[in-house]
Amino acid sequence: MDDKSNIIWHVHKLNKKDRARQKRQKACLLWFTGLSASGKSTTANVIEQKLFELGHHTYLLDGDNVRHGLNKDLGFSDSDRVENIRRIGEMAKLFTDAGLIVLSAFISPFCADRKMVRDLVEEGEFVEIHMATPLSVCEQRDPKGLYKKARQGEIKNFTGIDSTYEAPEKPELVINTAECDIEACADKVIAYLKQKQIIHD
Ligand code: ADX
Repeated sequence: MDDKSNIIWHVHKLNKKDRARQKRQKACLLWFTGLSASGKSTTANVIEQKLFELGHHTYLLDGDNVRHGLNKDLGFSDSDRVENIRRIGEMAKLFTDAGLIVLSAFISPFCADRKMVRDLVEEGEFVEIHMATPLSVCEQRDPKGLYKKARQGEIKNFTGIDSTYEAPEKPELVINTAECDIEACADKVIAYLKQKQIIHD
C-alpha cells in the first residue's frame, strides 16, 4: 500500500450538525438488512416517500443499483460481500455527513460487517432494521426468479440457500413484512425516528 502519511485530513468550516440543522433533522443511517425479497427496498422506498412529504432530505442506497455502478466489479463470494459493505459503509458515512437521512437496503449478511458500519458513524446514528421475513415467504415471493435458479443450482452462493445470513442480535427495529402491511411497517420506522428526535413531531 502507498504511504498515506502525507495525506492530511481537511477540517471544513461547516459540519454535519450545521447541514442537518438546515434541513430540520438529525443525520442518521437506516440500515435495512435481510434476505433477498424480504422487503428491504420496498419498505425503504415507502419510508423515503413519507419522509420526503414531511419535508426531510434523504438518500436511498440500494443493493442492486450500487452493484450496477460503484460495485460492479464485485460478485457474491464472502470476500466480495465484505468489500461491498465496506464501500457502502464509507459512502453512507459521507451521505450522513451531508446531513441526510440515509436509507440503505443491502442483504449485508454478516454481523461483523454491519458492526463495522455501525462503528463508522456516530453513536445513535446507526439504526439497524432487521427485515425478518421468513425464508419460506421470501422464496415464495421470488420476484426475480432467483430462488428458483438457486435451488436448481444455476446460481451459486445464494443467501439463505447456500450462503449464510447472520441475523442481527440486537437490532433497533425488527420488521416482518409477512405479518404487517407495508404502510404499517413504514409507520413503525417513522415513529421510531420521532421518538429518537431524529425528525420532529
Ligand atoms: S450483499 O450480500 O452483498 O449485501 P446486495 O444487497 O449487495 O448483497 O445484493 C443482493 C441482490 O443481488 C439481491 O437482491 C439479488 O437481486 C441479487 N443477487 C444476485 N446473486 C445473488 C446471490 N448469489 N446472493 C444474493 N443475492 C444475489
